[in-house]
Amino acid sequence: MTKTYRVAVLGATGAVGTELLALLAERHFPLADLKLLASPRSAGQTLNFMGNALPVEAVTAESFNDVDLVLASAGGSTSKAWAEAIVAAGAVMIDNSSAFRMHPEVPLVVPEVNPQAAATHRGIIANPNCTTILMAVATYPLHQVQPIQRIVAATYQSASGAGARAMEEVKQQAAALLKGEPPIAEVFPYPLAFNLFPHNSKLDASGYCEEEMKMVNESRKIFGAPDLRVTATCVRVPVLRAHSEAINLEFDQPFEPSRARAILSQAPGVKLVEDWQANYFPMPIDASGQDEVLVGRIRQDISHPCGLELWLCGDQIRKGAALNAVQIAELLIQREWLKGVAVSSGRVEVESLV
Ligand code: A2P
Repeated sequence: MTKTYRVAVLGATGAVGTELLALLAERHFPLADLKLLASPRSAGQTLNFMGNALPVEAVTAESFNDVDLVLASAGGSTSKAWAEAIVAAGAVMIDNSSAFRMHPEVPLVVPEVNPQAAATHRGIIANPNCTTILMAVATYPLHQVQPIQRIVAATYQSASGAGARAMEEVKQQAAALLKGEPPIAEVFPYPLAFNLFPHNSKLDASGYCEEEMKMVNESRKIFGAPDLRVTATCVRVPVLRAHSEAINLEFDQPFEPSRARAILSQAPGVKLVEDWQANYFPMPIDASGQDEVLVGRIRQDISHPCGLELWLCGDQIRKGAALNAVQIAELLIQREWLKGVAVSSGRVEVESLV
């Protein structure tokens, strides 16, 4: 029997929300109903969905009645504020925020890596951090054949990670600078156009920022490898929507680049992009709008016999956020885990999660 699902997009007016709508349409998601939710600021607006102008509603506790699935991308505090109402209404929330990612009872899922984790959900599934998703898709296929001992990552992160207003700000800063005017920084702490700066998330006592620690902790959870050694330096760059990452992997024995190339050329969600003659490798401009994580420059680390270097670019809004969330929803549907959970009584009390 074909089933359809009543879906709400929480944060529908944002950068990720807009992409969620595009993906639901593009992937012919089996919708019975689609509700667009945002803050009271957006109530009364309409958004185009497959040629129809759908109203945006301010989210309320009643918004989740008669909803099977909530795709949430409205920030951590909004997710925390509504999680209880969502679960109590019998819906499943796939949450793009960091609010529940490290909660032991909330699966953190990249469908290409740990689809089985989604089966354990009790009303909430977390969508990982964007840089972590891209890194996981590109490195897990290698980890499966030869366990990775250590990952050293440097990221080059686009403005989209800070939302639609941040993308607009970079464009305005670039236009101002080209006119010889001073750039105005409101969303970001510093001008990003023609500049870059270490990621502006909160720093901890050890000197790492939140974004870097997300890569450390989330990759361990997704890989199911609590002892995996990971370190990262995250940097914001004046790119609009695709992230890049330089990744150094250390194994317990050498990993031939040709073998890595052969594995990654077959890996789900990965596209190998390497033209050594032309010095052409993944670029954010090519990754923008693409579903795959582009991987290239695979080479032996000359400083370590068991080291391997690679470079990747991936669309932060798509695979780094909206696409991964929709793929989790598709996985729930394929394995019949969505409806099953909607009628089961095995859901956790959300108070323990919030
Ligand atoms: P709104 O447009 O009404 O502010 P982005 O990540 O691109 O900045 O988008 C954030 C999304 O989250 C937007 O859709 C925004 O709606 C929504 N949002 C922000 N704060 C709230 C809130 N308190 N309640 C509901 N939605 C919110």
